[in-house]
Amino acid sequence: MSVSQETVRVLERLTVAPGVCELVLEAPSLATALRPGQFVMLLSEAAGAPYLARPMSYFRRSTDTISVLFKTTGSGTRHLAGLMPDSRLRVLGPLGRPYRDPAPGEVWLVGGGVGVPPLYDWALTLRQSGHRVVAVIGARTSAELLAVEAFAQAVDECLVTTNDGSAGRRAAAADVLSDAAKTVYACGPVGMLRAVQHWASGRSVPTYLTLEAHMACGFGACLGCTVEAAHPDPTLGAYGRYLRVCQEGPTFLAEEVTL
Ligand SMILES: Cc1cc2nc3c(=O)[nH]c(=O)nc-3n(C[C@H](O)[C@H](O)[C@H](O)COP(=O)(O)OP(=O)(O)OC[C@H]3O[C@@H](n4cnc5c(N)ncnc54)[C@H](O)[C@@H]3O)c2cc1C
Ligand code: FES
Repeated sequence: MSVSQETVRVLERLTVAPGVCELVLEAPSLATALRPGQFVMLLSEAAGAPYLARPMSYFRRSTDTISVLFKTTGSGTRHLAGLMPDSRLRVLGPLGRPYRDPAPGEVWLVGGGVGVPPLYDWALTLRQSGHRVVAVIGARTSAELLAVEAFAQAVDECLVTTNDGSAGRRAAAADVLSDAAKTVYACGPVGMLRAVQHWASGRSVPTYLTLEAHMACGFGACLGCTVEAAHPDPTLGAYGRYLRVCQEGPTFLAEEVTL
């Protein structure tokens, strides 16, 4: 399905943790069209909401709903978190490229903090297609761990890490990666992604990093979301030095980008 913009209804607003909210949206066409790894742009029409839409991965979906799970970081997410059931929201999507298929063998999903949403539907899809899936869910503290129960039910093995040791292993999420992993997908803070990228260097394990960036358009037009390409394309001049997170991403092979 091509990208479209529609006005959807908020069905539920759940407070998942302090400052973290899940919005369930009635969006049947997006629920069908979205593929794991893709995202949407959300625009609240509430008075005083920011002019620009905010990019968000989808977390869960059913036949006619999708949900987004997000942390309140500024004015855009504050408006989204304040939406009551029955409010209307403009949604643009599906955006970005879906996850690329894994290599044969065990797949590891590494989610840090609010980086877990895009990995959840991917975990379900991978299990359905017969892959053994290990999830690593990490956060600074136990209070910041998200969706652990959902992942524990969805995957073959779920490892939990916290930086302060308040739950699971006292470690950074990337530190528990093992040579059993034959493909890795990671999403989380840039420090975690750099650590996963470092783990991948010198190994021939396809390792995919899902990046975040400030976005204005979400579909490749404004160049507001670029990341440095690790291997610039000289035929494109200055443009070849960058990749657009919204268009070529949001997921890149670890060796494709400079973080
Ligand atoms: C493809 C994609 C998927 C995303 N999925 C999710 C998700 O599932 N859940 C979720 O919680 N967030 C997600 N984000 C991040 C989310 O879009 C931002 O948190 C949101 O746009 C912030 O808007 P704001 O107006 O609340 O904050 P702003 O006022 O814009 O910013 C508040 C603070 O956060 C910083 N910030 C804002 N956006 C980013 C960013 N993208 N990267 C790093 N720092 C940033 C700003 O510099 C500022 O310090 C995603 C981003 C992208 C690009
Ligand atoms: S957000 Fe406009 S090009 Fe990516």
